[in-house]
Amino acid sequence: MNAIEIQNLKKKFEDKEGTTWALKGIDLRIRKNQIFGLLGPNGAGKTTLIYILSTLLLPTSGTARVLGYNVTEQDKQVRERCGLCMGGTYFYWDMNAREILDYYGRLYGLKRSVRKRNIDMLIRKLGIKGFEKKSFGNLSTGMRQKVAVAKSLINEPEVLFLDEPTAGLDVEVAMDVRNFIMDMLQERDMTAILTSHHLQEVEQMCRKVAIINKGVLVAHGDVEDIKKRLKVPDIIHLYLNRYENLEFLRKMRGVINYGVSDGLFIAVDSGLKRLDGIARELKKRKIAISDMEIKKASLEDVFLSIVGRKERGLRFGRFRRVG
Ligand SMILES: Nc1ncnc2c1ncn2[C@@H]1O[C@H](COP(=O)(O)OP(=O)(O)O)[C@@H](O)[C@H]1O
Ligand SMILES: [Mg+2]
Repeated sequence: MNAIEIQNLKKKFEDKEGTTWALKGIDLRIRKNQIFGLLGPNGAGKTTLIYILSTLLLPTSGTARVLGYNVTEQDKQVRERCGLCMGGTYFYWDMNAREILDYYGRLYGLKRSVRKRNIDMLIRKLGIKGFEKKSFGNLSTGMRQKVAVAKSLINEPEVLFLDEPTAGLDVEVAMDVRNFIMDMLQERDMTAILTSHHLQEVEQMCRKVAIINKGVLVAHGDVEDIKKRLKVPDIIHLYLNRYENLEFLRKMRGVINYGVSDGLFIAVDSGLKRLDGIARELKKRKIAISDMEIKKASLEDVFLSIVGRKERGLRFGRFRRVG
């Protein structure tokens, strides 16, 4: 059985400003016992999808099943078996971590002994011990987020939804949270669905991902396969003695586009295959190379090439399209 099965799922929001189709017909299956990454830029529909799967929103049409249970008709069964952790969650200001976790444990109807066992384990493993007696209002962002992660696991969920769980956290706490989640998945049978626009995080934690953009699934599968299938270019980065008259690059085989900023960036189908030819052409024009580097495309490059957004730095958006 799959952990998640989604068929032609659509969600429409209507307000004063008009109609937004946040999801425009998503089809997706997610196998059990893995961390699955749901990637997309802001406004892609990630949170909407997580809300529907965790029964907080109703779909406009289509179906979604979690562990075989229909999220619309069997919401209670779904909720019992799921945990949800969002970035920037708030709890009652004057409760401490232990009280918050106990409160949620009671909402799930867990027995006192089970609550105690789970709370002790979560407090220990998430490193909450040092601040378990402090009220939530006095905790730092990182500590608060650890409490939110612990809360999402209090009912020993089979499916854990993590919606940007490390948003706004400093590097160290984000790493703690990621490591903890990975450990939990090794220890027990659990499926986690992680949304993020933090591409490195997803690349590090998930083997399989889906990329959504504007409510549409644009790619889905193994990270490595997606990279191959999309023919994401390599990037040849060269430092030259001058940067004029480079238009000849446009006509060269294998060159997708190029740009000059901090050096010359050339996007090519294969870095190793094209470098010699490019070097030869530069030499012919008496342009000297002082330094060079070939970069392999990362998931970030794949992502940006799909969603077509301009970002700063050594990225795709920097290149003007050729031809
Ligand atoms: N409650 C709502 N009312 C109206 N529009 C909404 C609502 N929630 C989300 N949207 C819109 O749906 C789209 C998807 O939003 P969201 O699922 O939050 O994206 P993401 O989590 O990927 O950033 C956006 O265009 C957003 O403005
Ligand atoms: Mg979101």
